[in-house]
Amino acid sequence: MTDPIDRSPGDTADFADIDYARYDRIRPIRWTGDALELLDQRKLPFAVEYVRCDTSDAVADAIHALIVRGAPAIGIAAAWGTVLAARALEASDAAAAVDAIEPAMQRLNAARPTAVNLAWALARMRKALAGAVGDEGADDWRRVLEREAQAIADEDLAANRRMGELGASLIAPGSGVLTHCNTGSLATAGFGTALGVIRAGVAQGRVGRVFADETRPWMQGSRLTVWELQQDGIDATLIADAAASHLLRNGEVEWVVVGADRICANGDTANKIGTYQLAISARFHGKKFMVVAPSSTVDMQTPSGDRIEIEERDPGELLGVGGTRTVAEGVAAWNPVFDVTPADLIDAIVTEKGIVERPDTAKMREVFAPGEARDA
Ligand code: MRU
Repeated sequence: MTDPIDRSPGDTADFADIDYARYDRIRPIRWTGDALELLDQRKLPFAVEYVRCDTSDAVADAIHALIVRGAPAIGIAAAWGTVLAARALEASDAAAAVDAIEPAMQRLNAARPTAVNLAWALARMRKALAGAVGDEGADDWRRVLEREAQAIADEDLAANRRMGELGASLIAPGSGVLTHCNTGSLATAGFGTALGVIRAGVAQGRVGRVFADETRPWMQGSRLTVWELQQDGIDATLIADAAASHLLRNGEVEWVVVGADRICANGDTANKIGTYQLAISARFHGKKFMVVAPSSTVDMQTPSGDRIEIEERDPGELLGVGGTRTVAEGVAAWNPVFDVTPADLIDAIVTEKGIVERPDTAKMREVFAPGEARDA
């Protein structure tokens, strides 16, 4: 067992109300200088083990297998995967590397389709490499890539802290919140998106009670979120996914706070399967619905949610629990792992660039430029 707690001194606060050393202790991604270590999220909460990746293909496999998961974390892992791919190349300069590295980057990109952060991070790495062409004397292109991967991780942590501050400001003191999936330090460079808002809200007394749903079938809520909050000493109450409407009706929750895997130009948002029904239920019961994600999750190239590719995973995830089959042999299952919440059902999209209330295309354009194409 290895220690997942980040004890680096640079990790404490620039946000006065939050003691980050207390409220942000898990690190799922560690760059050792020559390999990537990923906290194996398939084994949590009962085993805390890091998987060592020495190659970009090992990183791609780890992303596909959900060893590392969560949209920002996938992007960061892919950036480090690109660094590993660069080290394996024979290319002597950046110009030769531009084409030679592409197959490895394509394999990273193909690991999961829905979270745009993956393609976004790879596009940034490509741009950094292209920028190093012709600059051989000044710097080694492999080091340029390494610095870019570190910048992607550092910027994500800073964005999460900012979003925590912004999102928590929307929540009235003492409110109950419900969250879905895992959007915490485990899913990001640290602090989390929706879970960052909840951490900030708890620290400021705005969040009085936290509910987390199980998030079937992979159980990110019950295996990861409540464990992660427990590490920080934040009480959370676990509910079955099917209990959410009952909870929202009975008045203990004011906000549903979730992350995102892709936010389209009109505000439609893809997130973990089950998010859409939470948004419907929140609106029906007069509760608020907040999406929290860094700008790297915003995809202004995709006009609306019907254009998002929804990942479908092994139906076997639905046919058993903990490796034991619970469904009769011969039964078919369908396992889409994301859904799209229409912008109409979202009260606020919180990014580090600001809050978009009641999002639509015009409001999104005020904050986000059309942006570069992210297709690999
Ligand atoms: O399949 P996963 O576990 O990668 O899905 C994760 C989610 O849907 C999260 O809500 C999203 O990536 C935001 S994480 C900050």
